[in-house]
Amino acid sequence: MSRLAWAGLVVVLAAVGTGVYWSYDGFDPETIRGATVVITGCSTGIGEEMAYQYARLGAKILITARRENRLKEVVAKAMSLGAQEAHYVAGDMGKAEDCERTIQTAKEKFGRLDYLVLNHDGSSVKNIHEFFGTKSWDEDPDMDFFVDYLNINVVGYVRLASLALPLLKESKGHLIVVNALNGRCPMYTAY
Ligand SMILES: NC(=O)c1ccc[n+]([C@@H]2O[C@H](COP(=O)([O-])OP(=O)(O)OC[C@H]3O[C@@H](n4cnc5c(N)ncnc54)[C@H](OP(=O)(O)O)[C@@H]3O)[C@@H](O)[C@H]2O)c1
Repeated sequence: MSRLAWAGLVVVLAAVGTGVYWSYDGFDPETIRGATVVITGCSTGIGEEMAYQYARLGAKILITARRENRLKEVVAKAMSLGAQEAHYVAGDMGKAEDCERTIQTAKEKFGRLDYLVLNHDGSSVKNIHEFFGTKSWDEDPDMDFFVDYLNINVVGYVRLASLALPLLKESKGHLIVVNALNGRCPMYTAY
């Protein structure tokens, strides 16, 4: 083979290797079969869909949110999609006792925890878009909303993570936090 042909072959192999490297995410769906997973904010939206994805992969899931009727429906669908087990805890993640009940229930039902997925997003006072869309801080700072929002979406996340940490350490498990681009690009500061 000529030098040119060798060079061409090397380029082609390098291109294929790079393509495989970039497209391979290292995820083996079999690692989820039988894994124990707690997901927050599952009565709707991204959390609900994540519950179904874990269910399809044969995980044992425990889901939370405040609306019990929705959680029952999600649990039933998750079981029909292939979850090995599906449970729910109806509770407010802004309340310490509900966070404790969630992790305690996971411990009792599963005896271990492989994944904690923190995803819930809410306020018991009002919708965040309504809040930021209609008011500015110098006009009418709504501290009740702010404290409530941070309690549910920041303190609640830290509380759940710290409660679950002993179980996650034991299983060498994973803590997954669903976030938004707004966390990196705080667009609301422009108001
Ligand atoms: N959708 C997007 O375009 C988008 C973009 C960027 C980031 N995200 C992030 O993705 C995550 C999910 O977003 P999403 O759009 O799926 O949200 P969503 O549809 O509004 O769902 C929020 C979930 O959180 C639960 N929740 C709200 N307040 C709660 C509380 N006090 N205690 C317990 N559960 C509570 C809600 O259930 P109940 O009302 O039944 O309690 C619901 O299941 C969030 O962390 C969000 O920041 C979403």
